[in-house]
Amino acid sequence: MKINLVNESFDSLQSDLEVIFVLNKDLNHKSIKDKKLLESLNFKAEDEEVVLLPESKKIYVGCEDNSYDCIAVAISAAVKKLQSTKFKSAKVKLLDGEASTLKALVEGAALGAYSFTKYKSKKTKNKQELFIVTKNSSKELTKTFNDSLIIAESVNKTRDFVNTTPEDFYPKTMTKEAKKISKLDDITLKVHGEEYLEKNKMFSMLGVGRASRHESQLIHLTYKPKNAKTKVVLVGKGLTYDSGGLSLKPGDSMVTMKSDKAGACMVLGALNAIAQLKLPIEVHCILGAVENMIGGDAFKPDDVLTAKNGTTIEVRNTDAEGRLVLADCLCYAQDKIKDIDYIFDYATLTGACVVGVGEYTTAIMGNNTGLRCNAIKNASASGEFSTSLPFNRHLRKLVKSKIADTCNMATSRYGGAITAGLFLDNFIYKENKDKWLHFDIAGPAYVENAWGYNPYGASGAGVRMTVEFMNSLSLDIDKRCQAK
Ligand code: BES
Ligand code: ZN
Ligand code: ZN
Repeated sequence: MKINLVNESFDSLQSDLEVIFVLNKDLNHKSIKDKKLLESLNFKAEDEEVVLLPESKKIYVGCEDNSYDCIAVAISAAVKKLQSTKFKSAKVKLLDGEASTLKALVEGAALGAYSFTKYKSKKTKNKQELFIVTKNSSKELTKTFNDSLIIAESVNKTRDFVNTTPEDFYPKTMTKEAKKISKLDDITLKVHGEEYLEKNKMFSMLGVGRASRHESQLIHLTYKPKNAKTKVVLVGKGLTYDSGGLSLKPGDSMVTMKSDKAGACMVLGALNAIAQLKLPIEVHCILGAVENMIGGDAFKPDDVLTAKNGTTIEVRNTDAEGRLVLADCLCYAQDKIKDIDYIFDYATLTGACVVGVGEYTTAIMGNNTGLRCNAIKNASASGEFSTSLPFNRHLRKLVKSKIADTCNMATSRYGGAITAGLFLDNFIYKENKDKWLHFDIAGPAYVENAWGYNPYGASGAGVRMTVEFMNSLSLDIDKRCQAK
């Protein structure tokens, strides 16, 4: 789908179809010329309800209100309708002339038009076009349009990575994709294999990948523009497959575990956007790309692994492997990168998180309440759903071990998302305690149902909220929330 912003009279612009938003179920609005026909079709203009009237060449779509989510979902429904026809183009009016509405239209259309066809023998070519028509163009609108396209394309790139099978996307594939992104301006790349991990005593990450035929990769991308204002580290869990290891997952739960690399893929997508938007911040991306498999050489429940910072970890469940990989990645980041302003990690870390907050929401954890609040605000501004899960000192005691410093599985089955976050806190150095946030994206990263403008499978969750947060840092606005 090609999306265009055009500044000309709506009526004179040639296109096959016209998209009309029916706001607040108001079929009496003056823009609706086909009221009788729509009523006879029982069209009620509910959320996502869409109808094509071929005679009058109009797509009517319900839109509950003028929030980002409603507009994005509505345009996505209209675009999907267009894609189901042989019509080549559609136009839609930017009614209020607002940049925020334009952002919702562009992102909703680009995200809604996405489909993953890599493994289909017959690929349908979608060469359709959408024209967003505005009466008054301005520098602000043009910038919003271009930025929104970059962001949506980065989300779609993440979706492609995550949807790719574990046979085709293994740790070295992550390296290959990182290399491609490092071609953008101001980005450098360092890649470390298992020899490096061993030399640097990263036995926690090494243990997880031991039974795989694919070599684990620690990938470090640095985006350093000349005008950088702050220094941010983004760490991503990149389990290219999570079988559970010897604590093998049951068959049903193993399906979809190609999505366990979504944290790392989302960090790659966010960097792809940040660099193209030329945001004035230094961003380090640390990706732990590992495959968790079974075999004679597999790490075991009962093993004790030592992480890079010397912390010993009792393994009680090899399926709690993400935190083992992140532990070493977080240590590596803090050892290598000095004077960090923010350190965020992203991971499909726990099933408990999905149970707790549902499939569509990212859970944000960390010691700094203000920073968590800021992250939630930015997520919401970007169009993503998130919520905060609070730590407490009683839950902290649940990740203690009788024989080692900590344990990769809590002693209670309740509060699993938070206890996983608290495990990670063991690997955050004192000086960074208030600069760290942990994002559990296990729910929204991959859903086996389409939702809103998200397709079946990978959603690219985390990309938009991260870009929004980085943008807010670069603007230096709203430090209100950051005070503890
Ligand atoms: N990758 C999974 C978490 C997950 C589950 C992500 C469902 C997406 C959907 C993670 O490695 C895992 O298996 N965690 C265990 C931890 C437990 C053994 C302490 C879990 O959540 O059951
Ligand atoms: Zn697991
Ligand atoms: Zn996992």
